[in-house]
Amino acid sequence: MLSYVLTCASVNSLAVQYSIACALMMKIGAIDEILCIFSCQSRSYSFTAMAMVTKTDISVGSVHLTPPVFLAPLAGITDLPFRNLVSSFGAGLVVSEMVASQEMVQAKAGVREKAELGFHVENTSVQIAGRDAYWMAEAAKLVEANGARLVDINMGCPAKKVVNGYAGSALLQDLDHALTLIEAVVEAVDIPVTLKTRLGWDDALLNAAELGKRAEAAGIQMLTIHGRTRCQFYKGSADWNAIAGIKQSVTIPVIANGDIVNGASAQKALAASGADGVMVGRGAQGRPWVLAQIASDVFSCAPPKIPQGQDRIDMICGHYDAMLAFYGSELGNRVARKHLGWYMDDLNTPKDLRRAILTEKNTAQVLRKLQNLDDYEVAA
Ligand SMILES: Cc1cc2nc3c(=O)[nH]c(=O)nc-3n(C[C@H](O)[C@H](O)[C@H](O)COP(=O)(O)O)c2cc1C
Repeated sequence: MLSYVLTCASVNSLAVQYSIACALMMKIGAIDEILCIFSCQSRSYSFTAMAMVTKTDISVGSVHLTPPVFLAPLAGITDLPFRNLVSSFGAGLVVSEMVASQEMVQAKAGVREKAELGFHVENTSVQIAGRDAYWMAEAAKLVEANGARLVDINMGCPAKKVVNGYAGSALLQDLDHALTLIEAVVEAVDIPVTLKTRLGWDDALLNAAELGKRAEAAGIQMLTIHGRTRCQFYKGSADWNAIAGIKQSVTIPVIANGDIVNGASAQKALAASGADGVMVGRGAQGRPWVLAQIASDVFSCAPPKIPQGQDRIDMICGHYDAMLAFYGSELGNRVARKHLGWYMDDLNTPKDLRRAILTEKNTAQVLRKLQNLDDYEVAA
């Protein structure tokens, strides 16, 4: 996509102008190709114009992910209804919630539907977690057989329940074992296998670069790095600079993740890390258009139409209906509460109405009350 026409006019030599501008754009990882350079120079003055193409596409095997703004897996949040909603605004990739590999293969209720039904969707990846090479390989095969285009391995989850089972980010403490899982999954399927991890276990064990290098050699085709260690959980700030060292250690696409919530933070994360794209998690909660907005701000994609007024209410009610259809009324109503809470935060909904909606058990009443959101927003 033609994204920039950069012009420079100065008393400097042309060569200096070229190199400064190119270095700057290369550093932020934004240039794919320079289409043409026009320049003219007199004795004291020079002018340069460059038309360039920005990277708006990441190729993972034969799968093209564009724009390079991806929805992070969030257990309990990025279910199929939410992934569909985010995709409807625009996202290069949406990742299912982590699915426990053994439970998935053995079809424990509630596990399959986390990944299911997104199987055939072009820009959906199904994420699997576990500590056992056999179950990981079997889960990957199942996911592939059901039509998934990509499978992602979770080596970043910090939750005690997962880490104590020696899965997720616990694997950062034993890269040899982590590699046996990666090799088993890559061997088991033909679809591209990607990996999501953190900077390391703690500040004394920052080994994501080593993991990335070994994972690439084993066949991993894309690496996403959450710029925190396991021991940080979600505290402090994501260290986008630290992702740069990992990016330099591999040749596969690297995606920067952590604390990216808008175009400005995405641009900063890309500049600091040199990553090929960004992944957004919590920033999309209550704001499903935010990935498309980032893609517009950073990669010059068409801006999303952010729903306002009645359109916003229609979007919220549509998401609520989709959750009821996916989970059934009772569970759907409960699952919906966190999303409705985020939507209402964004609308500054008065506390009384908020509480009434979040405690209502009758789904028709919830929908009726949601219709009032706009009145309150206007009145507020
Ligand atoms: C509630 C919650 C659930 C998460 N579930 C997963 C998961 O299933 N798999 C995974 O790889 N990461 C998971 N993460 C981590 C996110 O994918 C992401 O790496 C992290 O939230 C940082 O990105 P953000 O600041 O954009 O949210 C989860 C995070 C949160 C807050």
